[in-house]
Amino acid sequence: MSPNNIEVYAICAVSNIEPGGAKAFSLSRIAGAGENRPFPIVIVRKNAKDFFGYVNACPHEGIWLNIGSGTFFDTDKKSLRCSRHGARFETETGICTDGPCQGASLEPLALAVIQGDVCLCGVALVEDDGIPDPFAEELDDTMEIMIHPD
Ligand code: FES
Repeated sequence: MSPNNIEVYAICAVSNIEPGGAKAFSLSRIAGAGENRPFPIVIVRKNAKDFFGYVNACPHEGIWLNIGSGTFFDTDKKSLRCSRHGARFETETGICTDGPCQGASLEPLALAVIQGDVCLCGVALVEDDGIPDPFAEELDDTMEIMIHPD
């Protein structure tokens, strides 16, 4: 939490994502009616200082971009790519430039780097309550769960 009622959560240390890399996080958010909803996201680190965040759901069929392959990038490493049907997305905008959902966009997230952490802003997350997640073993190896209230 932070001043002015804007939700800010540290997701990971800047150093946890290499420049040119991306990492998925399986979070939970508090939805409008107060219930918890799965909130898978991906954070992309384009270079030393530029980070981009998106809900990890392809606009075509709503599945994780990295499903199966575990990777987020096209072979050229310049664009994001959905592993299911190959839709390509601009890293900086999330807009689909090629594929079955061309012209649609990944849902962007507001990120900020604060004191060495990549933080997610404006989304109310469910904080880790220490209760084991019964679905944890189904998570992809590339998923990490790290929520630290700001
Ligand atoms: S589900 Fe992503 S391109 Fe079809």
